[in-house]
Amino acid sequence: MTTAIRTQSGRAVKMNSRAGAVLPDIDVYRDRLWTDAEKLIGRLDRHEITPDDYIAEVRALHRAVDPCVELREWIGRALAEKKDQVLNQKTTPEKAWTMQLLYLEPNEVHPPHCHHNLISTQVVLHGRVYVREWDRVARLGTDRILLRTRTDRWFGPGDRMETTEISCNAHWFCADDSPAVILNFYILGFQEWTFDPPGTKGRRMLDPTCGVQADGLIIARELPLTEGYERFGDRRIVDVPLPRYEGRAAISP
Ligand SMILES: [Fe+2]
Repeated sequence: MTTAIRTQSGRAVKMNSRAGAVLPDIDVYRDRLWTDAEKLIGRLDRHEITPDDYIAEVRALHRAVDPCVELREWIGRALAEKKDQVLNQKTTPEKAWTMQLLYLEPNEVHPPHCHHNLISTQVVLHGRVYVREWDRVARLGTDRILLRTRTDRWFGPGDRMETTEISCNAHWFCADDSPAVILNFYILGFQEWTFDPPGTKGRRMLDPTCGVQADGLIIARELPLTEGYERFGDRRIVDVPLPRYEGRAAISP
């Protein structure tokens, strides 16, 4: 779901959010990249494998069936139409899953955010994407969480973000000055332990620039969806250095 929003610098950008909506069931791609993934979802749902096993199995599936090759036609369609391509999507009262291609226009930013009870694999299929990923380490207050930086680099085709409740749950990514396409395969509601209580809103925006501890862990402030886009929706990640400890924890309000 995409709407437009104006950033603090006045530029109109796309704002992507599922925002709790019940999305229509879609089943237009039926080849192995989906059918084998669907079997893995079933094994996870029956507790035959753990979330970490599931992530590793999806990685192995992508070694056997290269998404950059398998989805070539869909990548071309995303670039030609300049829009996301939803391949498979299903929502039940307790769970949901989606396999789609995200089209990122040049310099498009997905501002820093974290997730609730999501397991996802995202693979760059075309173009270059700058990626920052963090683990959530602890909740410090009602709108403050502690982050550990895991990734801070450019990704190219084949590079992957792997997200669970306890690993690389928060991320921030943006395209360079050319379009990019990312395979976005996520499932919701499959983890027993969650960082926040059940019923927590799914996606929360973050400001990871407001402070750092002596141990290098970053103090991030949770933001409403619109404020996240207003503050970071047009900021190139490479222009925003991660906070560094300089003798005392500088924490902005
Ligand atoms: Fe995300």
